[in-house]
Amino acid sequence: MRNIGILGAMSQEIDEVKALLTEKTIVNIANREFVVGKIGNVRCVVAFSKWGKVAATITATLLIQEFGVTDLIFIGTAGALADGLKVGDIVVSRRLVQHDLDARPIIPRFELPLLNRVYIGSDFELSELAGRAVSNLLEKGIEHVVGEEAIKDFNLAPKLYFGDIASGDQFINSDEKRQEILGLLPEVLCVEMEGAAVAQVCLEFNTPFTVIRTISDTADHNARVDFGKFIVEVANAYSRAIISEIIRLV
Ligand code: ADE
Repeated sequence: MRNIGILGAMSQEIDEVKALLTEKTIVNIANREFVVGKIGNVRCVVAFSKWGKVAATITATLLIQEFGVTDLIFIGTAGALADGLKVGDIVVSRRLVQHDLDARPIIPRFELPLLNRVYIGSDFELSELAGRAVSNLLEKGIEHVVGEEAIKDFNLAPKLYFGDIASGDQFINSDEKRQEILGLLPEVLCVEMEGAAVAQVCLEFNTPFTVIRTISDTADHNARVDFGKFIVEVANAYSRAIISEIIRLV
């Protein structure tokens, strides 16, 4: 039976997803709260990943090893790297890469030690499912889930993108750093702090996964300081709506 693990990068965001669960049981391990239950008829385990690659690795490993999840969906926000991407757009992963991994001269920059690869591909079917869920949300109109004022404040006119996502243990908010990553990894659409770590866990455990990221900032010196406001007013609502839609489509 399918048992979907859902990880969120922000506690407020994942609270909205936890609220969807019925028949809930709460399990605490390693200072993490795992909420086990059902969304609709689908068994799910929902947890806050915590921030950064190490924290997310611990949480993802526990989801697989302790709760036996069959699929893993990561949902959160990201900074845009690719030109044209705007705040409120949604990226569904094709591949994940660690932009801060560098074991030269032993192996090439970005290569995962002992895995002989730079990128880890997300599961095609799960990513397509996530893409369909996002498309349905966008077709219905975000005004059904996000307040009118937030749509105006953040100038939201969201689009869906599929592509590469880079992760590292840094919040990127300078033009210099943004250009450096883009120069070395030109296909990357956005940057965050957990996805590639979760991808590596899922690769090693042979667990299908996908990463869904809403653009919250442009990863440059203009990166909005009202990140918290974006999470509360937009990202939370997106997460709840996208996860509900994914479960409806499963
Ligand atoms: N998550 C959201 N925005 C980000 C940024 N600019 N850098 C890293 N992680 C992020």
